[in-house]
Amino acid sequence: MSLLDLAAYQRDGFAVLEGFLPLSDCDALQERAAELVAALDVDAARRIFSPRDQGHARDRYFLESGAAVRFFFEEEATDQPARLALNKIGHALHDLDPVFDRISRRSRLADLAHVLGLVRPLLLQSMYLFKQPWIGAEVGWHQDAAYLHTRPSTVIGFWIALDDADRDNGCLMALPGGHRGPLRQRFLRDGDRAVLRTLDAAPWPNVEPVALEARRGTLVILHGLLPHASAPNRSSRPRHAYAVHLIDGRADYPADNWLQRPDLPLRGFP
Ligand code: FE2
Repeated sequence: MSLLDLAAYQRDGFAVLEGFLPLSDCDALQERAAELVAALDVDAARRIFSPRDQGHARDRYFLESGAAVRFFFEEEATDQPARLALNKIGHALHDLDPVFDRISRRSRLADLAHVLGLVRPLLLQSMYLFKQPWIGAEVGWHQDAAYLHTRPSTVIGFWIALDDADRDNGCLMALPGGHRGPLRQRFLRDGDRAVLRTLDAAPWPNVEPVALEARRGTLVILHGLLPHASAPNRSSRPRHAYAVHLIDGRADYPADNWLQRPDLPLRGFP
């Protein structure tokens, strides 16, 4: 297993730790996700995403997902079975599902959170990302702190490859050092809608993007202000990944963040 080079992380805004998660844990997460999908009421879930809906049910479904386990479909999905049509499951798997809870709170992740400077780490959000063969959508350039904002900014992403991720199937891309720039946007709750607001129109830094290719079991650590993206998956191979985002409980958590959990207090590591 590769160890964290903290100086390189602070310079680049990301770190790639190969062989971090045991393959047995990768198996367990993929098997559990498959069980959750098999138990899904597909018709009810798909109805929320049907074009006939005016977006209200979809917004509500999304806004409530911070304290739930919800299923989101790919835009390009047509008649595929759900296991090949889902974009992601989110956003409280780490608290509501025992398998995701156990693996998200491995002591090695707790140790890393501490090394990365989180004094009171809280697990805020989790996502099972499918990046399906052929239809897995692009994720545009963004900073995770736009979606998971604290003052000061403390969010850190732990992204774990559950399949080999490379340029062909839409691995992560990053702008090295870009975490030293400003926060550009915030994704806010505005009544019962979610809106993306621009804070700073500064362009992304003019540096060559790097592909963060990751074999199965690799952990990619992403600084919350690091601009990153991923290309669509046009290959025949899946690119499953599991992402957990942490914040420091000492920071202020704004009441207008989209993700609110009034009835499900955030938890850290055991
Ligand atoms: Fe992200």
